[in-house]
Amino acid sequence: MSEKTNNYLWWQTGVIYQIYPRSYQDSNGDGIGDLPGITKRLDYLSDTLGVDAVWISPIYPSPMHDFGYDVADYTGIHPLFGTMADFDRLLEEMHRRGLKLILDLVPNHTSDEHPWFLESRSSREDPKRNWYIWRDPAPGGGEPNNWLSVFGGPAWTFDEKTGQYYLHQFVKQQPELNYRNPEVVAAMLDAMRFWLEKGVDGFRVDVIGLMLKDPEFRDEPLDPAWNGFYPFAKLNHIYTSNLPEVHDLIHQMRLLLDSYEDRMMVGETYLPNDMLMKYYGTPEKLECHLPFNFQLILAPWKAATVRQMVDDYEAALIPDAWPNWVLGNHDQHRLATRIGADQARVANMLLLTLRGTPTCYYGDELGLENVSIPPEKVQDPPAVNQPEIAHIVGRDPERTPMQWDASPNAGFASPDVSDLWLPLASNYEEVNVASQLDEPRSMLNFYRKLLAYRKATPALLWGDYRSLDLQPAEVRENCFVFERGTADQRLLVALNFSGQEQTLSLSELGKGRVALSTMLDRQGEEDLATLVLRANEGCIIEL
Ligand code: NOJ
Repeated sequence: MSEKTNNYLWWQTGVIYQIYPRSYQDSNGDGIGDLPGITKRLDYLSDTLGVDAVWISPIYPSPMHDFGYDVADYTGIHPLFGTMADFDRLLEEMHRRGLKLILDLVPNHTSDEHPWFLESRSSREDPKRNWYIWRDPAPGGGEPNNWLSVFGGPAWTFDEKTGQYYLHQFVKQQPELNYRNPEVVAAMLDAMRFWLEKGVDGFRVDVIGLMLKDPEFRDEPLDPAWNGFYPFAKLNHIYTSNLPEVHDLIHQMRLLLDSYEDRMMVGETYLPNDMLMKYYGTPEKLECHLPFNFQLILAPWKAATVRQMVDDYEAALIPDAWPNWVLGNHDQHRLATRIGADQARVANMLLLTLRGTPTCYYGDELGLENVSIPPEKVQDPPAVNQPEIAHIVGRDPERTPMQWDASPNAGFASPDVSDLWLPLASNYEEVNVASQLDEPRSMLNFYRKLLAYRKATPALLWGDYRSLDLQPAEVRENCFVFERGTADQRLLVALNFSGQEQTLSLSELGKGRVALSTMLDRQGEEDLATLVLRANEGCIIEL
């Protein structure tokens, strides 16, 4: 029997929490987080915080050229993170608490140390040669075409031994699989089946739209809008991403998931609405349950802009497509750094009250900010390869160790561990789980209350959405106000994106009762004809 709440599935009503496993909890003293560490923190996730599903970034064997996104064995566990027995225990303990586990699947590329690639590069005649994308040099020599790597430089590396180039859109240690070869499709489905048989609840699928490329390997056109800054953005990536054929492949993955009960797939899709919708598939050919919607990460943090963006996304959703929202992940600067610490609560109230499934990034519940990494500690490949733009493209600052308490190493690792893989934030003695639990109006306590309220409130879980037109123009520019409602419950979410007090005039709504303020100091009845929102305040009001 699939688990449903009022006919909604777990991935529709639940809140997803992303863990970057290197940084969550070290249990063996090597300064790197691991699976037994996560198991130790499950009570925090299920009881203290109250999330429903956990997505864990890759934990497979890997030489770590892209911190696990270069997979050397799809059905193993990297010894840094533990053993398969540790994984089984984690899954069992999660399920015992009613938590779902979403694994990160990285099908587009393997590690160059994966046995498939070792075989493939061994000779042009090898049976696995065609498992990867090999091309002859261009007629005059050099790369086969102009394709670029996301992390800097060409997307092709020459292999001396066999005299051909192989394709990699990330680091050169991440060769791309050839999904035009049915054997590769079958091998990846087998890897998925391995985890599904173990009872894993779903997959977050890395760069899902990149899995097929132009069979003619045509040059990509220049992007006329390129501002000369980020080299990869110089080209329009029409031959390396979002090819129509990729949808057949995703549908095959979906069919496999649907042969098990209650499993889900969320795709990594940085796309405008029209292209994003294609990743839900069609009723006849379903694809992702959720193609990630990253617009809250990418939009300028202005009330009127965000409102427009939410309205446009809602309007673009195709029938039966379930919405979703994301505020942060391991590839993006920390939320509180992007929009300012003062707005972090408003942003989280938005994330957890919009229609659809929210995904939160570990540490955002504490308001963690980017940590500046001393040059000798920088590890992330795009930063190492492109030092002149490292401060923009480097991702170490948002991947630093979780701040659990004020002890040396912040409870992330035992106090006697001398070196953590990335440095801790300098403010960890003040900003940590223990101190915030003690402080009644902390960010963490706000987050917990908001999650609990969401869980108990049908209008937020599956109610409809309608944004409000505000007057005068100044209020419209600074505030985003919307209603959520079911047949028997109506709520108003009123968010002040500005650092000044704003007075909303919503006399047509009569009176309401404040259920939650981002400041945790306000409750009770309000006349909505003059609803005053303090600077950076958000309120949920029951109508
Ligand atoms: C997207 C992942 O989120 C990112 O961390 C990784 O570097 C690339 N895909 C390559 O796998």
